[in-house]
Amino acid sequence: MNDRPRLHFTVPAGWINDPLGVTFHADRYHLFAQYLPDRVVWSPECRWSHATSTDLLEWTMQPVALEPGDGDGGVWSGSVAVPPDGPTRLFYTSVDAAHADVGRIRVARPVDDLWIEWVKGPVVALVPQGVDVVAFRDPHVVFDGSRWLMVVGGGLADGTAVAWLYTSDDLETWRFSGELARRHTGEEEPVWTGLAWECPQLIEVDGRWALVVSVWEPGQLHYIAYAVGDLVDGRFVPGPWRRLTFGPAYYAASAFRDEHGRPGLIHWLRGVDDPSGVWSGASSLPQLLRRVDDRILPLAHPSIASRRVDPVALEPGKQVRVESPTIDIEWTPVGTESALTIAADDGSSPLEMVVIDDTLTVTADAGEWSMPRTGPVRVVVDIGVVEIYCGSGALAIPARLVAPVTLTGSGSGTAYSLTGTIAASTAAPAPP
Ligand code: FRU
Repeated sequence: MNDRPRLHFTVPAGWINDPLGVTFHADRYHLFAQYLPDRVVWSPECRWSHATSTDLLEWTMQPVALEPGDGDGGVWSGSVAVPPDGPTRLFYTSVDAAHADVGRIRVARPVDDLWIEWVKGPVVALVPQGVDVVAFRDPHVVFDGSRWLMVVGGGLADGTAVAWLYTSDDLETWRFSGELARRHTGEEEPVWTGLAWECPQLIEVDGRWALVVSVWEPGQLHYIAYAVGDLVDGRFVPGPWRRLTFGPAYYAASAFRDEHGRPGLIHWLRGVDDPSGVWSGASSLPQLLRRVDDRILPLAHPSIASRRVDPVALEPGKQVRVESPTIDIEWTPVGTESALTIAADDGSSPLEMVVIDDTLTVTADAGEWSMPRTGPVRVVVDIGVVEIYCGSGALAIPARLVAPVTLTGSGSGTAYSLTGTIAASTAAPAPP
């Protein structure tokens, strides 16, 4: 139990991958996820777990929202749409376990206002005809100001990643509206975006659209990429493609708007696992997105800073002790080379961050990973995982730093403890 992250969502037992349908509705947040309660490795028979929260950090498990059955071998990723004046709808990928890569898009509706019980409806969108599609899944539904857009991810046999578009006026009837965006695997500059896109998310950030994709190739999950662009006649016209995430953990980002309407992302954290093998996978801390020109900046959501206590100053050469297992650090590197090390008393591998010029390199047990760096660095340490935000990217890495820890390095900043012993994600599901 003590090995469980305090601030990151995990399930009591079993496996999770993609976070889904993060929505603020009727005074609480909902978070769904790809879920297998009886095993700690992925298999196609995924269901949708459901949890609720008032602050995006402390989650309470609810009964499973959707299960295989009724024509679904697996209930794969999708999203939730809440019209201001109509009934809520959930759109998900229905798959047959034998041919899971190419799914069909199906709808479900909540029976109650707490979204505890869901009823499945019909298939509303099928793979486009006449094209050699090798992957088709993960509907993301968003209102563009005049109609509903459903973006579905996948790829073609020739190595082109595609986001297909379906449109609707009422969330009931959907029309196939062609390709929203595409990019071939041969295009590598300024960033490679894979052979297929999983979990495409279309989200408005500070007045412009961004298409956020999970970069996939057979047998390998890469990172999150995005382009800021314009919607012109049902097509997304991208600016330069860029990389949003670094390190081995972030994948399958899910877009949301917080209770103030601000855009954000929550990612699946791969490799954040229970050492005793009871649960596997976590959801990232919530990120708030800002846009500067054609770049997106992922920031730690303000809900995290609201848990800060006990600030201690970081000064060059000074050793700073922190007793809490959850730490929030603001660090300003100095000069052309600057370092910050977080070491646990128990002698386990420390986490080392080194900034040389414009690159931040992180070393931990899970390996060595780099990302571009501009400006101050924000580091949030939790049990089993560390998330680092700097400038236009974020990096997550599994790391086990058993409190108390000592921080040493160059540069300046402040380290805070974060309050909250979050047992919520371990709470028993409410009775159906
Ligand atoms: C991304 C993904 C989705 C799919 C789901 C299955 O991690 O592969 O494309 O819907 O996970 O669990």
